Amino acid sequence: MEVKKIAVLGAGLMGHGICQVAAQSGYEVNLRDIEQRFVDNGMQMIKASLQKFQAKGQLTEGQVNEILSRIHPTVDLKEAVSDVDLIIEAVTENVELKKSTYREVDQYAPAHAIIASNTSSISITELGSTTKRPEKVCGMHFFNPPQLMKLIEVIKGAKTSEETIQTVLAVAQKMGKETVLVKKDCPGFIVNRILIPALNEAVALYWEGVADRDDIDKAIKLGLNWPMGPLMLLDYIGADTTLAIAEILEREIDPKFHPHTGLKQMVKAQLLGRKTGKGFYDWTQK
Ligand code: 3HC
Repeated sequence: MEVKKIAVLGAGLMGHGICQVAAQSGYEVNLRDIEQRFVDNGMQMIKASLQKFQAKGQLTEGQVNEILSRIHPTVDLKEAVSDVDLIIEAVTENVELKKSTYREVDQYAPAHAIIASNTSSISITELGSTTKRPEKVCGMHFFNPPQLMKLIEVIKGAKTSEETIQTVLAVAQKMGKETVLVKKDCPGFIVNRILIPALNEAVALYWEGVADRDDIDKAIKLGLNWPMGPLMLLDYIGADTTLAIAEILEREIDPKFHPHTGLKQMVKAQLLGRKTGKGFYDWTQK
């Protein structure tokens, strides 16, 4: 099946970036969030990002306007999904919220449409089972910021068809991304299964007073050649998202993945990182 039009559900940190990448790759995109202010905020982030590309001479003003004209913001779910071939779901990482979204999408989307989830850790099989089209449900996991990060993990649920996987791989390729196939639906897939325990250990080192924040980040940047240290990356991803993934890994795979008390405290204190202005770093000035 050839995908011509895409709906992106959720205009947040990931959703806005995915929508932008799709529009930059020539797709018509409906961008949907539950409230107008979330949609507006997503559009603002897209404009700011496009402006960065324009300032660097990677896009002309004309191209920026064309890209923006391919994006159709809405708060109406039915309107967002009723005329598309692919729905990329990037709503908040909450199982019940996602399941109710899938039930609604299944009702309104055309029979041929594929639903791909950007979930970081929720079971694709479980999401697929809430629809009457589990063979058309798969994972399509982008990395933050989607505009710059090259990888997409494509995840096969228990009932996902080969045709669905091939269609999504082709879309990822058109978006200029590299892909890896996750053959079994397993929490954390490949990247987060490795990353989240590493971030959790960075929090442990910090809370135990083994080293200062800057030295923990410097050690990993220079010792492992990461582009940013783990505590800064944690601020970037969000302590709430990191905790949610750690809890799923702990529950579904092994108790060894249990999140550190320090991470839980950060969430309780709303020190979530960039999204609340403060985490391990102060982001209010940046
Ligand atoms: N859109 C367009 N351009 C952007 C941008 C955006 N959203 N964000 C940054 N840029 C541009 C900047 O303008 C800058 O351009 P310049 O080099 O011409 O000045 C360039 O990208 C580099 O940005 P910065 O100088 O601000 O910062 P960095 O040099 O640190 O690069 C980065 C930014 C690419 C994000 C880099 O730090 C990086 O790779 N960090 C690690 C990111 C990462 O690991 N992501 C994965 C997280 S895990 C995940 O997403 C999974 C989830 O399920 C948890």
